[in-house]
This record gives sequence, structure tokens and C-alpha cells, in this order.
Amino acid sequence: MLRLLNLGVNPSRIIYANTIKQPSMLQYAAKHNISLMTFDSESELHKIKTIYPDANLILRTLPAGDYKCKIDLRQKFGCPLSKIRHLLQTAIELGLNVIGTSFHVGSGCHDGNAYIASIRQARSVFNMAAELGINMKLLNIGGGYPGESSSTETFIKIAEAVNEQLDKDFAVEDEVEIIAEPGSYMVSSSSVLAVNIIGKRILSKTDLYNEEDIMPTVDSESETKHVMYYVNDGVYGSFTDVIIVPENLDLDVHTLKCNKDEDRYESTVWGPTCCGFDCIIKSTKLPMSEVGDWFYFRDMGAYTTVFICSFNGMPSPRKAFVCSEDRWRAIYPEETNEKSL
Ligand SMILES: Cc1ncc(COP(=O)(O)O)c(C=O)c1O
Repeated sequence: MLRLLNLGVNPSRIIYANTIKQPSMLQYAAKHNISLMTFDSESELHKIKTIYPDANLILRTLPAGDYKCKIDLRQKFGCPLSKIRHLLQTAIELGLNVIGTSFHVGSGCHDGNAYIASIRQARSVFNMAAELGINMKLLNIGGGYPGESSSTETFIKIAEAVNEQLDKDFAVEDEVEIIAEPGSYMVSSSSVLAVNIIGKRILSKTDLYNEEDIMPTVDSESETKHVMYYVNDGVYGSFTDVIIVPENLDLDVHTLKCNKDEDRYESTVWGPTCCGFDCIIKSTKLPMSEVGDWFYFRDMGAYTTVFICSFNGMPSPRKAFVCSEDRWRAIYPEETNEKSL
């Protein structure tokens, strides 16, 4: 909140979108007129009544089903449809202003049906609210929209599905304001992470501890069976997702080697800390690389560096901002000075 306010964003354009708010942060919001906020429980309504009774509230609903998202938020957030009437009634009894509804289908959701079902559900919430005398004016269609460079087509399909369903359920004359919170969509493809190889071990048949239960499969034809790379970023850094959602990850490691025909070896990529869990990729085929070489990973803009912790004192990756000359000129056409490039 503070960062947005310092950037000059008007408080009316900020949404406090965590349904469970720390009392001190709620006080801060009240002090700075950040009135738009979500809720999904009765207890939160009582907290808001005590700290910020004039807040403008958005009821967050539980997504209608399991749509195989990368990060499922349903266990933690969202009011089930069956409890919505009661929650709205409680808000009325407490004299609170409920002005709309929201949903978040779950992060990394590639299924247009999730958004369609949630918009339909939102329509039911609007209807229920109207029956109780609440005139809802805001619909927040949340986040979850995929942002990897490879998911442009999927995103377009989702956008079409969303627009179509909004047209069906929310007529223009209803004058409902529709907002979204597309986090990953905005930043996923913005960053490429380069990691440097800081160490390497080659395991061969003669290695003492070549037990199959420790190592992934080995190529018995080759004397060089398995290459272990140790790189300068790991699961306690930009790759926390590897621990949080291993089953939903599709990490693709790239090398700067350009010869496509080069032999590839079964490899493991480890992070830099002393922890045995600090493994980025257990098993992948990579061209033989050396200490000092670089691997890189695309689409590392979302849920990466924000998770970094100080375990083992490893430094965070340095950020370098890059913009092509064409784009820069398109954004800043008035800047003709070569120095500004
Ligand atoms: C309330 C809320 N809005 C938006 C987002 C951004 O979600 P995504 O990155 O999936 O678009 C999140 C992420 O957890 C969230 O909790």
C-alpha cells in the first residue's frame, strides 16, 4: 500500500485484495482512505466493522470447481455459494457497505471454463444481493490468467470466453464496473533468469555411492553417466515453486550452446545451498557444460524472486533491465537523444 501511495496512485484505485487482513494493516488502510477490500468470512466482517466501518467491501466467492490450476487457492480463500446469503445478511446487520463480488480461479489456470463458471456464479451473487436490497456495482474477475510466452493462444481463448460470458451475464446498462487482478499475466514473460554453473560433478559406474534410489536413471552405454551441476540460484531463491508446486511445474532449462546435434547427458541441476532439497531439476538432458557457463530459464517473472529467503546467506540475482530500441522509441517517441537509449 505504501509503495503504491508513494507512486502517487489515488487510494480509490487501490484494492486490499487479501480477504484476511492484519488489523494493523487494516488500520493503515483506514488512515489512508484505501477503502476497497475483499472479505469471505463473518469474522472478517466483524474486524472491518471495528476498524474501518466505512470500507467498501467485495465478497470473494469460492470457484465453482477444480480446474487444475498451478496454485489452487480454494482451500484458503473464497466463500461457498451456500454461505453467501448469510454473509450478506451479516454485512447488512452490521451496517457495512458491500459493493461487489470477486473471484480468483487459482493461479496459472488454463481452462476457460473456470472463468465462465465463476462469472455465472458472480451473477447469482449479484441477484442474491439485489434480493436483500444491496445494489452491487463492482465485479472483480481476479487473477489466474496465464502469462508465459507460450500461452498467448490460451490467454486469447480465455479472454474470448470471459468477454462472451460477461456479455451474457452483465448487461452494459447495469453499469457494473469490471476489474481484474492479473498478476502472472502481467509479469511472467517479463524475465529471463540466467544462472551460473558454480560446480559440477560427473558420476560414473565406478562412483562409490551410485545407488539407484539416489540417482535418476543413468545411461549405461556411456562412461559418463550423470552430470550434476550446481548453480548460483535455487529453491531458496528464485525457484521456490519447485518445492511448493513440483507437480505443476514445467521448468525448461536452456543453455547458450548453439549446436543442436551436440551430445546430451542425463543431468541434475542443484541450487547453491547446503540443503539436500535444493534441487531445481532432478533429471534432464543437457549438453556438457562447464563451471562458469550459464543456464537460463524463461518466464521467470512471477512467483520467483519475491520468494527469496536469506538461507545460507546466498545473494539474490542481480536485475538488468533490457528494452529493444524499437520498443523504447515506441514508448518514448519524444526522446530523440541517443543518450536516453
Ligand atoms: C487476491 C489475488 N489477486 C490476484 C493475484 C494474482 O494472481 P495471478 O498471478 O494468478 O494472476 C493473487 C495471487 O495469489 C491473489 O491472491
